[in-house]
Amino acid sequence: MKISCRKKIAVDSKKDAVIIPVYKNIRSLRTITGKKIDDELQNIIQSDYFNFDEKESKSFYIDVNKKLKKIYIIHVPKEKGEARFYMELGAKTASIFKKDKIYSFSLISFEDIYNEKKDLYITKAFLEGFMFNDYTFDKYKSKKSPEHNFEAEVITAMPKLKKYIDDNADNWNAVFDNINIMKDLVNTPANYLKPYDFAEFVKNNLPKNIDLTIWDEKEILNNNMNLLHAVGKGSVNKPYFLKLTYNGNKESSNNIALIGKGITFDSGGYSLKPAASMAHMKDDMAGAALMYALTKLIAELNLKININTYIPLAENLIGSNSLFVGDVITSASSKTVEILNTDAEGRLIMADALYLATKTDPEIIIDAATLTGACVVALGPYCAGIFSNRKFLSKQISDISYEVAEDVWELPLYADYEQGITSTVADFTNMSTFAREGGAIHAALFLKQFIDNYPWLHIDMAGPAYMEKNHPIFGKEATGFGLRLLFHFLNTHYTEGVNERY
Ligand code: BES
Ligand code: MN
Ligand code: ZN
Repeated sequence: MKISCRKKIAVDSKKDAVIIPVYKNIRSLRTITGKKIDDELQNIIQSDYFNFDEKESKSFYIDVNKKLKKIYIIHVPKEKGEARFYMELGAKTASIFKKDKIYSFSLISFEDIYNEKKDLYITKAFLEGFMFNDYTFDKYKSKKSPEHNFEAEVITAMPKLKKYIDDNADNWNAVFDNINIMKDLVNTPANYLKPYDFAEFVKNNLPKNIDLTIWDEKEILNNNMNLLHAVGKGSVNKPYFLKLTYNGNKESSNNIALIGKGITFDSGGYSLKPAASMAHMKDDMAGAALMYALTKLIAELNLKININTYIPLAENLIGSNSLFVGDVITSASSKTVEILNTDAEGRLIMADALYLATKTDPEIIIDAATLTGACVVALGPYCAGIFSNRKFLSKQISDISYEVAEDVWELPLYADYEQGITSTVADFTNMSTFAREGGAIHAALFLKQFIDNYPWLHIDMAGPAYMEKNHPIFGKEATGFGLRLLFHFLNTHYTEGVNERY
């Protein structure tokens, strides 16, 4: 979306529409809208036609220089609220504009309406919500939705806000370009995105300042990643493993490890999923898509940080060479695993990648995976489970989560529950003997066996990666969840020098 900012006044707008946020008993907006719009606005607000208790916004036309201009009034509370409120407003506005075929608009800044001079997050949140909604996936439809490129012009009287928007609009677009790439990957049907296709896509869509290593089945075996191999070997579409390296801070040896689960389709394998549970298992590579898009974004914005990203890719299918229940596999770490359920495949491929990640002495290991249905049962579809072996990390990520309106909730890593993953024939089982009870916790405890007690943050995003029903900000299907969360987390706590607020 093209984003610009100019000093007052709305009546000079050359865009298709003007958005004006209002609340009950708002002062005159003449200095920012111009007299003509303000007079009409006051008339409308005071008329019977207008009711602040109605949820829906109203629009009207005014005659500006002999041309009709459409004005959208949107209701806001008198006191400023949380970012998510304005993100929802933005998302809702975008869907109205697509319907009304409004493709360019001027927006009176929320900061001006609230006279908020310090904390500039509101207009940005609105634009972010708008950009979340401005996404279509129609690659496989014969009838495409109309091409458009939204233009947003923020109108303000505050120099500080103007500077903030002028400095950062490109960065916001970079964030959403990568969110949309992530969504495209997650939405792509599994017959078009095999492990090999994912690897090819990454190879062909990579900034020059990222190095990429691709391992095929043979190299996976040569590097003892037997768990990844075991999960992927049953399919004719063999597993791949990607390592992306970005060195944005050459003077430092500090480095961050990112790992994303890349199961391009999860049938469950011989522990076959029931039909209904298999419905959207093309999304089981959302963690991989997230970590790839995040690494790409960070490299595009040249953040001063060093990152190693590990992406294990496999298809979890039934075949004559597939993993069986009862098999024992030796992991890359040489710890052995008894397979009690082939549908608990995510933790297997993650375990080998996590082990590899410990080898560069990382400051922190972050993994993201659509790991367990149990996490969705515990926290519902909008919220990711987070786990960490360091209290400060779960606190830091929870604070960022609140700011970016991508919900996470900490779940415990109770040592007592480790008895659930002990095996009689191997070191660990891949499924808890507590069966479904505390499933997300047992999966996390399994991963914990492979991180060598490095500072670690695990994100179980089985719920929010993909929406079956409409979410007020993320919409339906792939959501792009996690990208803003982890980008702001890393930018705030792990980049060197001044932390810009994007
Ligand atoms: N990919 C699934 C988890 C999942 C479920 C993601 C729902 C998105 C929505 C994972 O591989 C899985 O099948 N987990 C099993 C583990 C069980 C067999 C121990 C589960 O959660 O049922
Ligand atoms: Mn599974
Ligand atoms: Zn899975």
